[in-house]
Amino acid sequence: MATTPQKTKETKKEDASIDSTLRPEAWEEYVGQEKIKDNLRVLLEAAKKRGEAADHLLFSGPAGLGKTTLAYLVARELGGMIKTTSGPALEKVGDLAAVLTNLGPGEILFIDEAHRINPMIEEVLYPAMEARKLHLVVGKGPSARTLTLDLQPFTLIAATTRENLLSNPLRSRFGATFRLGYYEIGDITKILERSARILGAEASAEAVEILARASRGTPRVANRLLRRARDFAEVHGGKSAAGTNIIDGPAARRTLEMLEIDELGLEPQDRRLLMTIIEKFKGGPVGVNTLAAALSEERGVIEDIYEPYLMTLGFLQRSPSGRIVLPPAYRHLKIQGHEEELL
Ligand SMILES: Nc1ncnc2c1ncn2[C@@H]1O[C@H](COP(=O)(O)OP(=O)(O)OP(=O)(O)O)[C@@H](O)[C@H]1O
Ligand SMILES: [Mg+2]
Repeated sequence: MATTPQKTKETKKEDASIDSTLRPEAWEEYVGQEKIKDNLRVLLEAAKKRGEAADHLLFSGPAGLGKTTLAYLVARELGGMIKTTSGPALEKVGDLAAVLTNLGPGEILFIDEAHRINPMIEEVLYPAMEARKLHLVVGKGPSARTLTLDLQPFTLIAATTRENLLSNPLRSRFGATFRLGYYEIGDITKILERSARILGAEASAEAVEILARASRGTPRVANRLLRRARDFAEVHGGKSAAGTNIIDGPAARRTLEMLEIDELGLEPQDRRLLMTIIEKFKGGPVGVNTLAAALSEERGVIEDIYEPYLMTLGFLQRSPSGRIVLPPAYRHLKIQGHEEELL
């Protein structure tokens, strides 16, 4: 799971527990991403009709958009068994060999953070994906020989937040790639309403709208904000006739204020990134490495966590000469002067 480095162990643990409580377990509960769901259903139906293992699938997209959830839904559709691991967990060729040889017919192997699979292990994965063969080198030096084992028909599902870091040979071995995009406000609203029901929380339409706008089009963020707003309402909020705490508009607004999240979901780090480009680099263009150094932040984090959402908002542009802050960001940050320069 990709997370921002600012996150403490506690938030990560909390996210994991919210994720599993609120994770949709049926297609009907999986809100949005309609095209992906339609295409997946056809693909899975066809595989079931042929009585074969489904094609290997790649799910890519920013953190918290529902890749793991989709993998579990696919497994459920195909009748069950899913074994999960991740790129960094596969340290030795033997780790992958053990996982692969333990797969039963038609089972699913889910590899999270696929962009972090070590190249030596990838080499072993290729023939396994293509021909269901496992080639193992036994022994060392001149007496080394290759042992080939047949594997059961299986489906590999890989998830990645950084598809561009996947090697071409690996990428080309998936039968289908699904790219998840940020959710529309309407979909996030539905997710919040569902989550509120599951958590037994009552939220006004105004509160849901406020939280949805601040959720960065990301279900995991929406669920996290809902939890925080529920906490706030428990301590400060009004009660409904039934005696439950109501998350109303003011409670939602106060929650965001406390978390220093603005109405579009920008966090202090996002604002700092924009302000750094504006103040230190005259609004850009500035190269990503220079920017990373100025922010004392890893380049990958800037590229994966901050930039995609800022670009979706039309606040930031990646150009060949570097990053540029766009006029809507100046307006949002209420910075005058520079805007005219740009327009
Ligand atoms: N389409 C959806 N409908 C409803 N809830 C969703 C949807 N997608 C994700 N969620 C919620 O968001 C949580 C995070 O989703 P998930 O763990 O699948 O994201 P991910 O893409 O695998 O993230 P990461 O890249 O961090 O692993 C889920 O537990 C679920 O509660
Ligand atoms: Mg995941």
